[in-house]
Amino acid sequence: MENPTDTFRAAMRRHVTGVTVVTTRLDGRAWGMTVSAFTSVCLEPPTVLACLRRTTAAAAEILRTGRFGVSLLAEDQGEISRRCAAPGAPKFLDDVCGAAPTHSPVVDGAVVGFDCVLVRSAELGDHVALFGEVAAVVAGPTPGAHPLLYTDGDYLSLPPRTAA
Ligand SMILES: Cc1cc2nc3c(=O)[nH]c(=O)nc-3n(C[C@H](O)[C@H](O)[C@H](O)COP(=O)(O)O)c2cc1C
Repeated sequence: MENPTDTFRAAMRRHVTGVTVVTTRLDGRAWGMTVSAFTSVCLEPPTVLACLRRTTAAAAEILRTGRFGVSLLAEDQGEISRRCAAPGAPKFLDDVCGAAPTHSPVVDGAVVGFDCVLVRSAELGDHVALFGEVAAVVAGPTPGAHPLLYTDGDYLSLPPRTAA
């Protein structure tokens, strides 16, 4: 009989998402973890939600400091996503963060960045839901740049825009 966790995982792999890096500062250095479980929650106040495995270094540090950043990666930033998704590997990002004067790091060249204050958290199973009120939005350097997408274990890009 099929394991229900495997069935659920296989079903969720069909979901198409953007790819974010959720950031914090670890020992004063930028640190980021790849997260696709990201969405907006409400507009007033502007609030986002990211769901992280509880045992990750990022989740522990965000719960300790009450701050986090979210960078929506651009289509040419697959390497940063892979780096920040390597289980147990160091995820320092000082080489790719720093241009934005935000409290939490924002990845340079990302489509958009959010600097968030943790306003609520909820532990459920092996994950923790982090609700962040958006203190600042950092627009990316290239208006209209395409985001990196992820589905079925693969990265993909949107097709080129066509003139209306
Ligand atoms: C595209 C992609 C999306 C991911 N989304 C999430 C997510 O939403 N939540 C999560 O906890 N892990 C997610 N992961 C897995 C973590 O990035 C990965 O397990 C990471 O290594 C955890 O950090 P750690 O090494 O500090 O444990 C995702 C990985 C990839 C490649």
